[in-house]
Amino acid sequence: MMGSGALWKHLLLLVSVLASAVTSQDDIPCLRKVFDQSSFVCSCNADYCDTLSDPGDVPPTTYVSYSSSASEARFLKSSGGVDSSPRPDAILLRVNADYHYQTMMGFGGAFTDSAGLNIVALSNATQEKLMSSYFSPSGIEYTLCRTPMAGSDFSVRPYSYDDIEGDVALVNFALAEEDWLYKLPLIQWANSLSQREVKLFGSPWSPPAWMKTNGKFNESGELLPEMYQPWAEYFVKFVEAYESNGAPIWGLTTQNEPLSGFDDNWGWNTCGWTAEDMRDWIKTNLGPTLEAAGLRRLKLMVDDFNRDTLPWYPAKMLEDPEAYQYIDGTAVHWYSDRWVGPAVLSELQGLFPEKFILYTEACEGWDVGGAESVQLGSWSRAENYMMNIIDDVNHYSTGWVDWNMALDMTGGPNWANNLVDAPIIINAEEDEFYKQPTFYAMGHFSKFVVPGMKRIDIHSPDEQIWASAFVDPDMLKYVYVFVNLKDEITDVSIELQGHYINMNIPARSFHTVIYQDH
Ligand SMILES: *[C@@H]1O[C@H](CO)[C@@H](O)[C@H](O)[C@H]1NC(C)=O
Ligand SMILES: *[C@@H]1O[C@H](CO)[C@@H](O)[C@H](O)[C@H]1NC(C)=O
Repeated sequence: MMGSGALWKHLLLLVSVLASAVTSQDDIPCLRKVFDQSSFVCSCNADYCDTLSDPGDVPPTTYVSYSSSASEARFLKSSGGVDSSPRPDAILLRVNADYHYQTMMGFGGAFTDSAGLNIVALSNATQEKLMSSYFSPSGIEYTLCRTPMAGSDFSVRPYSYDDIEGDVALVNFALAEEDWLYKLPLIQWANSLSQREVKLFGSPWSPPAWMKTNGKFNESGELLPEMYQPWAEYFVKFVEAYESNGAPIWGLTTQNEPLSGFDDNWGWNTCGWTAEDMRDWIKTNLGPTLEAAGLRRLKLMVDDFNRDTLPWYPAKMLEDPEAYQYIDGTAVHWYSDRWVGPAVLSELQGLFPEKFILYTEACEGWDVGGAESVQLGSWSRAENYMMNIIDDVNHYSTGWVDWNMALDMTGGPNWANNLVDAPIIINAEEDEFYKQPTFYAMGHFSKFVVPGMKRIDIHSPDEQIWASAFVDPDMLKYVYVFVNLKDEITDVSIELQGHYINMNIPARSFHTVIYQDH
């Protein structure tokens, strides 16, 4: 029999749960559209787009969960209380909050020329739906975004901010039409829609061709030694130009994919850097130049390339005490993850525990090309995102930044014809866009794992259930994100300090659980 005190407590809890259910804004559901893939996309236009509101305060000792599945839902919300025992035969996910790992910095995507060009081709009202989907409180609330410094392959032409041959004083340095039309307005819009801070970092693909040994944006070429200082000044000019036009900069990477610049067949913008040259340039040019300009507050990241460069490439720079003081972290791309396991991330973290690791680029469709670049409704591509994010954050990545925020129906435009997939695909002819399953994979993290949360342990005994866990700095709010790769409905019990969240989850599904302790 329940004592009357306990009964009242339960009644009050029930009342508060009901009250929050009544007052919380109801979300607009996904408008499904099926193409030729294993799952569906959510279609949005000027009048309609699905939303995801903040769960608000979760009553103590209860949880709220959001689920997405291949066959049914997108961010389907439910809630419940904890139990004192697990379900029989459930897969037991054990959380251990005794030890804290890295502090999370954020999740997001990239403002590329192509993303912006695709977005501004929509009507204003549809643009608003798209930008809100990524940045507003009714969307997945990205907090950490990247932008190329001048052209990348996701531009309609190769260019830099100073294409006047021999202008070493950079008197002709100027932002491009692409910045004014496709990037700055959207970055400002994102900042105004967001109720969180949106941190932005710049990455160069290539210096001006005339600064390089081969005189080209692409193929094999390095920075000429006499251009080391002008190229450092160019970084300062980029930051100043963006910041004076309403786009504060939080960080920089020193070069996108630096080892691609030793490949004679590299089709798009690049610049080759050995680790030794990069180290020397940072300590004699870039570091002191940023410092002299009052920009030491910027987070400086090295590498910005695949796992197969770990730990040796950043280690070569970080082993140097002078270079070390200027470098804040290592940026990593996902393209070799299927061949190189995550142990190299932990190895790097162990060597330089004061320096962060951040995933700064990933996309699907990069290895198939042609008509397969974009797959509208592919669930397996979203599972790859989920597994990769979980694997990376469980090995110290402080966040995960996706590549182009929006591409067209062919996965472009791209001047070098390097077409790929994106979480939002734009059908400009119909003035609509499609939120891919990968959009929801990103959202299962970005909405709920807010910057400042710390990663904690969660152990899954089943190789088809992958999970990550986080706790807020007050140790009150826990966030668990997991993926079910099984083809069947599964019972899962999440254990924290002797109590259990018992869930029955669909086949091929993603979940975020928010639990409030005490
Ligand atoms: C769309 O927005 C732009 C910029 O705010 C404005 O100049 C333009 O008139 C708008 N177009 C329509 C059709 O409302
Ligand atoms: C490099 O870019 C030029 C255009 O600027 C192009 O003609 C050439 O094919 C590219 N190189 C490779 C290897 O694709």
